[in-house]
Amino acid sequence: EHTKGVNGLPKVILREVRGCSAEVYLYGAQVTSWKNEHGEELLFLSSKAIFKPPKAIRGGIPICFPQFGIQGSLEQHGFARNRHWMVDPDPPPFLTCSPNKAFIDLILKHSEEDAKIWPHRYEFRLRVTLGPGGDLMMTSRIRNTNTDGKPFMFTFSYHTYFAVTDISEVRVEGLETLDYLDYLKNKERFTEQGDAITFEAEVDKAYLSTPTKIAIIDHERKRTYELRKDGLPDAVVWNPWDKKAKAIPDFGDNEYKHMLCVEAACVEKPITLKPGEEWRGRQELSAVPSSYCSGQ
Ligand code: BG6
Repeated sequence: EHTKGVNGLPKVILREVRGCSAEVYLYGAQVTSWKNEHGEELLFLSSKAIFKPPKAIRGGIPICFPQFGIQGSLEQHGFARNRHWMVDPDPPPFLTCSPNKAFIDLILKHSEEDAKIWPHRYEFRLRVTLGPGGDLMMTSRIRNTNTDGKPFMFTFSYHTYFAVTDISEVRVEGLETLDYLDYLKNKERFTEQGDAITFEAEVDKAYLSTPTKIAIIDHERKRTYELRKDGLPDAVVWNPWDKKAKAIPDFGDNEYKHMLCVEAACVEKPITLKPGEEWRGRQELSAVPSSYCSGQ
């Protein structure tokens, strides 16, 4: 269903038979809502989110491309999250027949203006799918269409803001004992000790070469989010906590309690694409009652 969102920005609503839904803004190709069959919101979206270019929407799933973080002259997290994407007129075919899936194909291509800040031609195709069980799947296909024979490099992240009841009661499983870069300590490398990860202060870490499955357990709501990823070796975990939250204009002072970013990402080793080559990166999310998860 194609409709208009905040400030008249075009958005697409995906619906699943049992009542699950997802909303995708063409601005940033950003998923801003994902609801389960009870109509409960599973993604965090700030009450102060600004739906106006050039600001990326605060919450949901912004896409960081062609760069995660800050480096050189490119803006933080790249420009894909604040560009107007189009519905893809020529989407890639589904490999298998999938009559029960609701999906939308979006595309972003190089523009002359962007070529000034990132001198490459590319086609970025994103498919957002709401599966029959309400799973939210995102597949990115990025192709180098340079005509000058030059390869390009990029880093990437699905900057997913999960909605949680109380951050102090949240546990993340699947990242324990891994190496990480600490963005609060100048990207110094450390090794995570001990058990599952819990939260009591600001955190901004990129876990390296993680397992493909990560669980985010919201104890208070008895809900477990499962994040599965492919083509994206790393996982960023971010919560600004109280002090940083106050410094972010489009983020409520207390909203840090109700969100956690866990991001399927590729940050440590940039991806290199030669002309004609395509890269694929996938993130799949599901939300299940915690008691249904074996061993948790
Ligand atoms: C995280 C980064 O992924 O995103 C943080 O690791 C950053 O350093 C955060 O502050 C939010 O970024 P932005 O640009 O959306 O405010």
